[in-house]
Amino acid sequence: MSDPTKQIDLLVVDNIQTFVGQFHILEGVTVTVPKGSITVMLGRNGAGKTTTIKSILGLTPPQEGRVVFNGMEIQGKRAFNIANLGIGYVPEHRAIFRSLSVLENLKLAERKKGDFDRHSEFVFGLFPDLKRLYKLPGNHLSGGQQQMLAVARALVPDNKLLLIDEPSEGLAPILIQQMMEAIKALSETTTVLLVEQNFIMASQLAERYTIIDDGKSVKSGLMEDLVHDSELIHHYLGASIKTREELEKAHES
Ligand SMILES: Nc1ncnc2c1ncn2[C@@H]1O[C@H](COP(=O)(O)OP(=O)(O)OP(=O)(O)O)[C@@H](O)[C@H]1O
Ligand SMILES: [Mg+2]
Repeated sequence: MSDPTKQIDLLVVDNIQTFVGQFHILEGVTVTVPKGSITVMLGRNGAGKTTTIKSILGLTPPQEGRVVFNGMEIQGKRAFNIANLGIGYVPEHRAIFRSLSVLENLKLAERKKGDFDRHSEFVFGLFPDLKRLYKLPGNHLSGGQQQMLAVARALVPDNKLLLIDEPSEGLAPILIQQMMEAIKALSETTTVLLVEQNFIMASQLAERYTIIDDGKSVKSGLMEDLVHDSELIHHYLGASIKTREELEKAHES
């Protein structure tokens, strides 16, 4: 009999190999995302984090390995069909329609008619600035507000899984805090796979981590274990990233 206390894996990326053009970018990436959790993907610049996200979505389909979503193998399916299974994507670098208003950006994110009306209260509850600024075109928003809009767009359709690529990139500390609270809140209804270079944010949000280095999976586990493992952090994530204890000490002094 199955163990009812065991968490179900909503997403399993199993040893994928991905080429972009003639370049062999992913050479064995394995990521498991339990349902109802936030899992963070860590790794240096150029490690292959975005390519892993794009491989899950069928934007750079893997040549080898499996991607299993909600019990179904999806590698080889078209990106459009993969998204329709209920996978939302917030790409790097604030992908919004800059000439369209906040409201138009949100409505265009519908997958089914009525998606926006059903979720507007939730979305505007998480991002009150967007409600206030709903008539403004995207290019009149601050960088932080554009990032909020990019995340909000992924919340318009019904999604079981959200793939969010570097949401804190370029944000001021106060906006990082707001973004963290929004991701925490949305994770109560949706499973999240997050790419995040800001280790403090990653460590406060995620239950699980997975590290990618040079196109390969090197380690995964519970975040509460990683924060105490300064050797692992320094080896794979760079000397500039400190453990939580070191960070706390730095704040005290
Ligand atoms: N279209 C492409 N053509 C050639 N090489 C590419 C292409 N896209 C990505 N790469 C290379 O693949 C590797 C992985 O890139 P990827 O964008 O997945 O890394 P990343 O971990 O997301 O990095 P970052 O933290 O900088 O966003 C890098 O060496 C990158 O230069
Ligand atoms: Mg990237």
